[in-house]
Amino acid sequence: MLEGYDVSKLSIGTLGSHSALNILKGAKDESFRTVVVCKHGDELVYERFRVADVMISVESFEELANDEIQERLLELNTILVPHGSFNAYIPTEKLLKLRVPMFGNKQLLVWETNRELQERWLRRAGLRLPKVFKSPDEIDCLVIVKFPGARGGRGYFLTSSPEDFWKKAESFLKTGVLREEDLRDVHIQEYVVGVNVYPSYFRSLLHEETELLAIDRRYEANVDALWKIPASEQLQLDLSPTYTVVGNIPLMLRESLLAEILRMGDAVVEASEKIAMPGIIGAFCLETVITENLEIYTFEISARIVAGTNVGIGTSPYAYLRHGENMFMGRRIALEIKEAAEQGRLEEVLT
Ligand SMILES: Nc1ncnc2c1ncn2[C@@H]1O[C@H](COP(=O)(O)OP(=O)(O)O)[C@@H](O)[C@H]1O
Ligand SMILES: [Mg+2]
Repeated sequence: MLEGYDVSKLSIGTLGSHSALNILKGAKDESFRTVVVCKHGDELVYERFRVADVMISVESFEELANDEIQERLLELNTILVPHGSFNAYIPTEKLLKLRVPMFGNKQLLVWETNRELQERWLRRAGLRLPKVFKSPDEIDCLVIVKFPGARGGRGYFLTSSPEDFWKKAESFLKTGVLREEDLRDVHIQEYVVGVNVYPSYFRSLLHEETELLAIDRRYEANVDALWKIPASEQLQLDLSPTYTVVGNIPLMLRESLLAEILRMGDAVVEASEKIAMPGIIGAFCLETVITENLEIYTFEISARIVAGTNVGIGTSPYAYLRHGENMFMGRRIALEIKEAAEQGRLEEVLT
């Protein structure tokens, strides 16, 4: 596909949601033409902020894989930048078969859609992970029970014994929050008591460096609202925490933790090379909990830009430290594409 491209007239394109403003603004700052494939009704976001040169409206994001839309993107010499909505709304087989070149390593996008594969990757990198329980009957500490599918933590619950697990699972089945098949794919993790920290990195193949560009924490409903309800009322309401991400909050980490955070990023990159050469290309993020003893536990990985880097649009302190003003994840991605194009190395950063 790349052979048919006019490399002097590239477009950067993405789906209109998640971190599209970040990606498109970054692309414009690096003088690319920008394309957004967005859902009817969402056009105003990309119009109002003036980040999209070309807008393609669709009923559903899955249409990205349709021939007609792919042809249009190919005509525009588009390089797609994937984000969370690619995994959430486009079936993996379709994602792998997209003809429009994508910045990043598609194979690793597949790894991130599966909790067992993620775990294997993170263990291989030598990171500290929460204990995983194979069966509900082994639960012997506070655990978080997760189910597949991007549901913003709906149906996830905390429990600390097999008896309570089955009681809660049955009640969720009864109310329709969970289905029988969900229980087959249940993932039970030790619940780590601490604060959530989400470092975002950029692995540059061209510069052979893994940069730390932003750190955020998530603002989740209703778990971040429970403390506002007095304990006596909480007991009467019988509330369960849910984790629907509503936004992100920037975070500066205690400096003594940074050495480990940087080493973790390097280790994840090294492990990724063993999984799918050339390993991670571009953005990735670790989801961690840091305890009162300053131990860092990693419970998830995203092998692409995360919405947490949106807090750095313009400049995040970490991006500033490394690059000076006006650098952020979306722009860093565009810069890598620009440099790769200039050096005739585009095929190295696309899949
Ligand atoms: N092992 C854990 N210990 C403590 N909190 C956790 C753990 N795993 C997840 N969480 C909390 O639950 C939220 C949702 O879990 P996550 O695994 O990120 O699922 P999702 O697929 O919805 O992103 C996290 O953002 C975090 O607040
Ligand atoms: Mg998560």
